[in-house]
This record gives sequence, C-alpha cells and structure tokens, in this order.
Amino acid sequence: MTKKTIGILTSGGDAPGMNPAVRAVARTAMQHDCRVIGISNGYDGIFDGLTEELGTRSLASIIDRGGTILQSSRCKRMYTPEGVDHARRRLQELGIQGLIVLGGDGSLTGARELAKRGMPVVGIPASIDNDLAGTEMAIGVDTATNTIMQLVDRIRDTARSHRRCFLIEVMGRNSGYLALTTAISSGASVAVIPEYRYNMERIIEVLHRRFQDARDNSIVLLAEGVCGAEMFMERMKAAVPEGEFEQEVRITVLGHVQRGGIPTHFDRMLGARFGEMAVMGLLASETGCMTALSKGRTTLIDLDMVIGKKKHPAPELIRLARNLQVEYGDAVEL
Ligand code: F6P
Repeated sequence: MTKKTIGILTSGGDAPGMNPAVRAVARTAMQHDCRVIGISNGYDGIFDGLTEELGTRSLASIIDRGGTILQSSRCKRMYTPEGVDHARRRLQELGIQGLIVLGGDGSLTGARELAKRGMPVVGIPASIDNDLAGTEMAIGVDTATNTIMQLVDRIRDTARSHRRCFLIEVMGRNSGYLALTTAISSGASVAVIPEYRYNMERIIEVLHRRFQDARDNSIVLLAEGVCGAEMFMERMKAAVPEGEFEQEVRITVLGHVQRGGIPTHFDRMLGARFGEMAVMGLLASETGCMTALSKGRTTLIDLDMVIGKKKHPAPELIRLARNLQVEYGDAVEL
C-alpha cells in the first residue's frame, strides 16, 4: 500500500503512551506521503463518522499527555458479525484504505474481524493489564506499574507510622501482572494473583511472622481478577482465630488513578516504535497482525497468535517472586 489514507483509532481502556503512538503513526504516515484520519471514540467513531485528518497542528503537544486525544469506547456494535460488516462498509465510505487499532484483547478481536473482511488492519497492543499474548509489553504497562509502585510507597509511609497492614487492590482484569510485578518492585510481602491459587494459611503466617518480628508494616497486593478487596478481607478475617487480626488492616483500592498520568520514557518509546512499525507494516501490505515486543525487538505477529490466547506469568518472574520471598500462592496454575 503506498500513498494511501490510513485511519487510526484507540479502543477499550485508555493507556498512557497511546498519544505518543498516535503521533508516531501520523508522522510516519506523513513521511511516506499518506493521509492520516483520526477516528474518535474508538470503533463507535467509524459508525458515527467521527473523523478528522491529523496534521502537525493536531499532533502538537500530545507526546507527554496520558489518556488518548482520540478518545475511546468499548463499542458494543462490534460484538456481532453484522456490526463488523457494517463497520467494514463505513470504513470504505470514509475512504480509509488501511486501519491501525490501538487497544487490548477485545479491540484487537474487532481488528482481526475487519482484516478477515478484507480491510488492511494492523493492531498495536495498548492496555495497562499486559495480558496480551505474543508481546512482552503493551503500551501503558510501564507507566501504570510506576504509578502503582509510587502509590504503594506512599501507602507504606502511613502504614509504617501506624504499624499497619495494607491490603491494596490493583487493576489488571484477569491478569496478575500488575500485582505481581509491583509487589516485587515495591517490596510487598504478598501478591494475590488470579493465575496462582492463593494459600490463605501461608498469607496469614507471613503477616503474623512480620508482626511478631516487630516489622512496622506489611503490604498485600491483590489483583482485582481474584476478587474485590472487601471480599478478600472477609476471607482473611475468616482465616484468623477470633476473626480479628493482631495488627490493624486497612484497605485501599487504587482504581482508575492507575490508568492516568504522564507516559514514561519507556511507554513513549514503545508508542513510537509500535506506531512507526504499524505504518511500515501497512505500507508493506501486512494485515491481520499486531506489533509486538519480542526479546526487546519490535516485530509483527499474526493476530491469530494473540486473540483468545492466555498469557501466563513468565517463569523467570515467578522464580524472582519466590526468591525474593513474595508470597504469591501455590505453584499450581488454575
Ligand atoms: O483493561 C484495562 C482496565 O483498566 C482493567 O484493568 C480494568 O479491569 C478495566 O479496564 C476497567 O474498565 P472501565 O474503565 O471500563 O471501568
């Protein structure tokens, strides 16, 4: 594909680094004499005709902004074959000859369906959850993990001052990546993640031992994919004698603060690398694929290798958690 019109949209949960990726797509496309049409509000923008040509002005000052200037949505109309057919027709009417989709699993499923219907499409993994198979990292993960780590550091300040235990719920949908990696980087004692069966007896034992050792704080990071923090607290209480802890426990649910913020250097670079590669892929007639990071290098992989595939925590990460004495559960994958 040469000198064509490329559409770009961001879909699903926003992720810091989407804007640097949009910028990289537009700049690379312009460098190759292509037009770039920004589609607002995710896939909904295709149906609703929310398009605007991206030029140097619209790209100014976006590299350091979190979220997505294109805005995003979880578009229900893409859930049905008829909806995808309709989107395919609308893209043609809008004069779009190649499409770049930034998002997570659901968004890239839509991308694959459009590609199957003859629309040239390249996906870019962008989701703080880091749950997409086939790529070591997705856009937004680095910023989110840094944010979580800094927030846990702050919580530890107050935990220490009151000699408390904190149960902190983090995002990640069905993935424990955010909880596990930030447990390691923030020095938490326990990571409760959906991929491994938690062992309540051992969790209580870890907390008890720390209290007996006069440690001034304990941090438990809970992935939302296991259950909500209130429910986990109830389960913890049920597992201790008399239903009461020897140490005060407080709950913090970090929530959407994890998704915002200025993209880190890593996420800006990843956005730049993936954005550039997606355009180069389209120009080389690649379709139905996704940009990916593999052994530190950018590459394109088939969306069939991504969609519906479960990403397990890397064995090195599990070993690291074990050797650093983070209690993460039994080594039996669910
Ligand atoms: O997929 C990103 C994510 O932030 C998940 O971690 C979380 O479960 C979900 O999106 C929240 O979605 P929403 O913003 O629609 O509540």
